[in-house]
Amino acid sequence: MLEDKYGRRFHYLRLSITDVCNFSCDYCLPDGYQCDNDRDFLKVSEIKTLVSGFAKLGTGKVRITGGEPALRKDLCDILRVCTSTPGINHVAMTTNGFKLESDIQDWVDAGLNSLNISIDSLDPRMFASITGHNKLESILRGINKALALGIPVKVNAVLMKQYNEKELDAFLTWLKSTPITLRLIELMQTGDNIDFFNQNHVSGSAIKEKLQNSGWSQLIRDKSSGPAQEFYHPDFEGRMGLIMPYSKDFCASCNRLRISSLGKLHLCLFADQGLDIRPTLQNENDQALQQQLQALLGDKEATHWLQDGLTGATKHLAMIGG
Ligand code: 5AD
Ligand code: SF4
Repeated sequence: MLEDKYGRRFHYLRLSITDVCNFSCDYCLPDGYQCDNDRDFLKVSEIKTLVSGFAKLGTGKVRITGGEPALRKDLCDILRVCTSTPGINHVAMTTNGFKLESDIQDWVDAGLNSLNISIDSLDPRMFASITGHNKLESILRGINKALALGIPVKVNAVLMKQYNEKELDAFLTWLKSTPITLRLIELMQTGDNIDFFNQNHVSGSAIKEKLQNSGWSQLIRDKSSGPAQEFYHPDFEGRMGLIMPYSKDFCASCNRLRISSLGKLHLCLFADQGLDIRPTLQNENDQALQQQLQALLGDKEATHWLQDGLTGATKHLAMIGG
């Protein structure tokens, strides 16, 4: 079992398979992806050893992230490696959705169990202004396709004062008849977005209050659920979630570890550095990896230091997939 000195258990692995992204979200990659050196991302064979080692230490869920994971031509091979690993019972993916409409069937055929999709605005022009891509309608059609295939969908929207603070009602109207979970994420400061952060950060607590005053109830969280707070309403098909990384005790329910696309273990989204485990992945036998992971986990800290403006080595979340 992967358990740290604070008693937190890590049964959830977030695996980034590329840090390249074709979108240029204002809070993440406002100037688009900058190719600073040649990137030699983890190969399918390395991913196989990696996932198998984690699974033997109790990991049951893998999330494929990026950058944008659908930019990898071997995405379906990677999904199949994950879904066929003994012990892995859930394979999820986070995507910007640009290939959702065209590729969802292939992902489902490869065994994908659930999807998270980023949509920061339901206004097509605002969406295009944030991401640089006029893709909202296609993504919404893709979501309907995923739901029709029985794939649970969560939609992530980053709360931003100057962009979507007034959109709560539009999101709620969508949830009335759409069985998805919409999660509003508080904007996080990263190394590259300090000015944007200062202009746009809004706390989720006002929204929480508004929901609770209009008939939404908070779901009781079980011990294994992550840091999101979820709400339901009898008149709504969809659910609401709030991710408030600046709130007290946010890190107490941390249940995930992250691997970057270059094979570094990140003990926290905002860790000072990634810990290189790639050499260990060259060995098809995953026993050395299991020992290394258990040793490295000893350094996991109780919490991030975001409230003090310390963002570690994280320049933007495309580096590590959120
Ligand atoms: N703050 C909050 N959320 C962010 N994301 C990317 N960068 C940030 C940030 N600075 C979100 C994306 C996506 C998820 C992986 O992380 O919008 O939904
Ligand atoms: Fe936007 Fe995600 Fe791409 Fe960053 S990685 S630019 S948040 S789509």
